Amino acid sequence: MKHTVPRGTQDVLPEQWRRRQLILDTARAAFERACFERIATPTFEETALFVRGVGESSDIVRKEMYTFSDRSDRSLTLRPEGTAPVVRAFVNGLQRAPLPVKLWYHAPMFRYEAPQRGRYREHYQFGAETIGSPNPASDAELIALLDSVYRDLGLRDVHLRVNSIGDEQCRPQHREALVAFLEERRDELCEECRERIQTNPLRVFDCKNERCQHVAQSAPTMREYLCEDCNRHFSELLALLDAAGIAHTIDDTLVRGLDYYTRTTFEFTSGGLGSQDAIGGGGRYDRLVAGLGGPDVPAVGFGCGVERLALALEAAGVEPPPSQLDLYICVADEKRRSDLFSLQTTLRAQGLRIEGDVMDRSTKGQLKQASRLGARFALIAEEGTDLRLRAMRGREEWKIDQTAQMSDEIRRRLETQ
Ligand code: HAM
Repeated sequence: MKHTVPRGTQDVLPEQWRRRQLILDTARAAFERACFERIATPTFEETALFVRGVGESSDIVRKEMYTFSDRSDRSLTLRPEGTAPVVRAFVNGLQRAPLPVKLWYHAPMFRYEAPQRGRYREHYQFGAETIGSPNPASDAELIALLDSVYRDLGLRDVHLRVNSIGDEQCRPQHREALVAFLEERRDELCEECRERIQTNPLRVFDCKNERCQHVAQSAPTMREYLCEDCNRHFSELLALLDAAGIAHTIDDTLVRGLDYYTRTTFEFTSGGLGSQDAIGGGGRYDRLVAGLGGPDVPAVGFGCGVERLALALEAAGVEPPPSQLDLYICVADEKRRSDLFSLQTTLRAQGLRIEGDVMDRSTKGQLKQASRLGARFALIAEEGTDLRLRAMRGREEWKIDQTAQMSDEIRRRLETQ
């Protein structure tokens, strides 16, 4: 019987991996240039971490978590997002490290969402969290870093939106005004937004329902209510983005779906992706570290969806560079296999990309395979003839003496041709 993958999941086949690898290499280089250190956390955590961390009124906690009981009846949840686990790891093991603690990760996330192009039940994110600094320069650094990853990958059609959703000083006044406004327009809202008026009124701003969007257009915005400190923080962030030439739009409706955000929120979207066009997003979460039992330190971070980014690259026609094989070893004489196997091992150890036949094809078939793999050279070993090194382009050939030094001679040829 043939099995298929579970709904909303996918295999990443080698061709797609090449694009993923390009994304990861680019992201990793950017993180290293900016002194972020890599961290990994478990694939599953105690359910309570996400309920407290991401927030009970978020869609993730309300309806998207993969929660199960293990054999000892512990409630565990497959990681739906990376921030709460990283903060937990900081609280458990990095509290004494000098601040800021700058961490990055690449890991699968699991959300029970309705699958469609760009939205999966298992998706990968690379992300970063800077813990310890209240300075808008930290927010700007993360935004600039993610922007540089998109740029380095050659993605052009990228749009950045930023907003500030205030803090515990100014949010209550806005909330009061927003709840009063929404209660008055209750009949025009979708069922979910009606339910959320009291629990999470901000979410009306990113509801996809057209009538809710219409209501949201005239709702009191958070920016009108920002306190002096939040206002200053936001203006400084915008000035830093301007100084670095990072184009952005202020979007009063950008509230994001996780409950932990304070002040800055941001999101990058890319053209050519349809409705799931957010390729990365994040923001500040100044209360989360203390909320998860750590010291009262501020933090900011982002997550970037790798599948969506791969789709965006595909739509933009960005192709990873083709892989290059240095040498293909054609073995059509079993008596020479051990010498040639030893040669293959030596050359690989010296850093060359080598492939050798294991399919017992004819020399012609092996040469065909060599050109399929994009080999620059082929080494041909046929019964009763000398070893020949052939340049696949131009077909020039050199006789190679089958001695203990042949690896040196072959390497020299490969380097000089
Ligand atoms: P998020 O916006 O929920 O934020 O996810 C980050 C990114 O992951 C999205 O912009 C999107 O590219 C991708 N993504 C999310 N859900 C899916 C899905 N079902 N299928 C495919 N891609 C998806 C967070 O998760 C926060 N932890 C980000 C953050 C870090 N904020 C502060 N620090």
